[in-house]
Amino acid sequence: MLNRLIPLVMRLRKRFPRVYDFIVALGKRLFWKRLGVYPRQMANEVTAVTNVLRSSRWNMTAGSNLAHEHLEAAFSEYIGSGFAIAVNTGGVALQMSMRALGLKYGDEVIHQIDTCSASTLSVMAAGCTPMFADIDERTLMLDATAVERGIGPRTKALLATHMWGNPENMLALTALAERRGLHLIEDTCLSLGAALDGRMAGSFGRVGVFSFGCIKPIQGGEGGMIVTNDEALARELRSMRHWGDRTIEFGVRDTVLPCWNGRMSEIVAAVVAEQLKGYPSHLRSLRSAVAEFQSFLDGFDGIKLVLGTAESTEQCAFTQVVLRIDERQLGWSKTALKDALLARGVPVWHANFELINSLSLFHQNTWEDWLPLCDFPRTRANYNGSYPAAKQLMESGGLGLGKMNFLSSQNLRHLMAQIDALLVRRGVA
Ligand SMILES: Cc1ncc(COP(=O)(O)O)c(C=O)c1O
Repeated sequence: MLNRLIPLVMRLRKRFPRVYDFIVALGKRLFWKRLGVYPRQMANEVTAVTNVLRSSRWNMTAGSNLAHEHLEAAFSEYIGSGFAIAVNTGGVALQMSMRALGLKYGDEVIHQIDTCSASTLSVMAAGCTPMFADIDERTLMLDATAVERGIGPRTKALLATHMWGNPENMLALTALAERRGLHLIEDTCLSLGAALDGRMAGSFGRVGVFSFGCIKPIQGGEGGMIVTNDEALARELRSMRHWGDRTIEFGVRDTVLPCWNGRMSEIVAAVVAEQLKGYPSHLRSLRSAVAEFQSFLDGFDGIKLVLGTAESTEQCAFTQVVLRIDERQLGWSKTALKDALLARGVPVWHANFELINSLSLFHQNTWEDWLPLCDFPRTRANYNGSYPAAKQLMESGGLGLGKMNFLSSQNLRHLMAQIDALLVRRGVA
């Protein structure tokens, strides 16, 4: 059947592209929500973009009362931070934050070994030296004791990543940063809406950074945001996103630091603002689907949901749903179970990213060309170090279920049916 259908569709696309586009658009409208595909429209994205395009004000320098200003106001209100600064990517947001906090070449920034390599590369692109720390086996976030052991004379900041929508251990890290006089930067790129102790992730550190690129909780094609409560820092950051030009913020045509083009397009701002409007209700249904799945998992030994430092699913954003597995109890190796789920149409991946020191840039020592001011022996030892908890998680201890598994009741039922078919329920011999 598919053998016949695919060439037919390809011919239709070639000969009648408008008809093809119409059918695809109709299909999306009817089925997208049911199939749980992501990203999805959450509010009035199309109208908002049309309005920007018609206004001819496509750039954030095009006057006042612009889309990015409305987005910044809504975003800072949602996070509960004093200020929000819209930028073009999460990675640039990280680089700008480090520079605005006064970090310079050779300063060290500690982060977990198994986060997205974008965090590490942002540290390097800001001229600083990334230093790795292992994770806590229970939360799968930074191990605060390992972080403390790794602090040296050049350490200037901790980069705390809220992994996959689960909240990081902000209480321990805030206390540690204060005690050791370090800046605390929150990488919240994967975790918009996660919360801890009644506070939103991103609002604990000197700055919190968000991304609206692929796989992120809300999306705009690309995009990023920095939040802070420090008014002077916010002003500095706003000037930094214009290649550091101080005309708008400080009234002088001057540049005092090397900077970037960090501007967010007005078109992107319009999309992200609509995504944000629809996000609370999206998060409610996502959380309730994951809570149902958590109860379902109670019926099995050797597989359980990991919520970071959260006490309940209500505090998580579930960009990916993280599972801790015990191969012996399950009677499956991680790889075999992952492959079996994939073969049965369940989107599943690892519970963490590859250990960053396993990437060629680090294990082939190419990094040495790019960190000329680092403390070489110390940095080399850190990059050659072993990170057993993160390694175990990657090799055998964790799986990550794609968010789309939880975006429709059909998908959730399918997921649970496949797990039921593959694993043995507790108490069933
Ligand atoms: C944890 C984390 N930090 C930072 C980034 C960088 O964000 P962007 O792709 O918007 O630069 C990503 C993106 O993949 C990420 O997952």
